Amino acid sequence: MVNHVLITGASQGAGKATALRFAQGGWEWTHAARNRERLDTVAQTFQAMGRQALAVPTDVGDAQQVTQLIEKALDTYGRVDALINNAGICLTGPAVNTSLDDWHQILDTNLWGCIHTIQALLPAMLAQGSGTIINVGSFGGKMPLPQMTAYCTSKYALTGLTESLRIELASEGIHVGIVHPGVINSDFLERAMFRGKSDQEASERQQQMQQTLQSSWVSQPEDIAEAVWKAVKQQQAEVVVGPVAIATELNRLFPQLTQWALASRRPR
Ligand SMILES: NC(=O)c1ccc[n+]([C@@H]2O[C@H](COP(=O)([O-])OP(=O)(O)OC[C@H]3O[C@@H](n4cnc5c(N)ncnc54)[C@H](OP(=O)(O)O)[C@@H]3O)[C@@H](O)[C@H]2O)c1
Repeated sequence: MVNHVLITGASQGAGKATALRFAQGGWEWTHAARNRERLDTVAQTFQAMGRQALAVPTDVGDAQQVTQLIEKALDTYGRVDALINNAGICLTGPAVNTSLDDWHQILDTNLWGCIHTIQALLPAMLAQGSGTIINVGSFGGKMPLPQMTAYCTSKYALTGLTESLRIELASEGIHVGIVHPGVINSDFLERAMFRGKSDQEASERQQQMQQTLQSSWVSQPEDIAEAVWKAVKQQQAEVVVGPVAIATELNRLFPQLTQWALASRRPR
């Protein structure tokens, strides 16, 4: 029997690389994102490899669209063996310059997006008595990051969701894990939001992020894809990808020290 994976945010970046990794592993998949054209392009590439792929344009922040996504995946393949909650967006800027609309956008995508897929798929996974759910978090869900309060809120919540659900579902044959990337050289700047007390400050922040992406320690989308693949195959509970694992481990062992160091950095 061919396994079936459902991946959100699979039209670009780490999600697209993850879809490719599962295709190489012999899986069929459903993938979702908002932009239909990009999704179809990805589906056609993989269909050319002889793999079956279902592309369903979906905004994960919309519960009704997500319900339809899950129904289509189950109608087409009969089951979902792995759910990869990868869709996510980023916001950088001081909390005081983060509007309520910004907060809603971040939480709707990064947190509610995952809740919507899990809520819609869980009855089917429980009925089949097996399945894996991997949430894509962030090192910002393991340690606080200055000027990223809304983003960290969404990713810390995802860490809590993952750990609680793992315990709850362990006896049901369902594994729940989380992969925390560091900075990824992906397409995230296309939809990342930058805030500041002026447009100039926000744009400086964006330029700074662009420079960071040139650093040698930054992960590539394929690194995240490999980590997600292993998390599913080896049923791993938590993986931090890349050199940021040193920082998250330091924060776990010496939270006061790391948080003092982060607080001492002058905000730009
Ligand atoms: N990039 C980083 O440095 C970094 C660091 C730590 C963690 N992460 C996490 O890693 C994951 C992947 O990030 P990435 O950098 O690969 O992102 P990316 O290149 O920006 O790609 C994001 C994907 O998610 C989709 N998406 C965004 N909002 C969506 C929504 N509301 N509904 C459905 N799909 C949506 C996008 O397509 P559409 O726009 O067409 O919907 C796209 O396919 C995210 O969860 C992110 O938070 C990223």
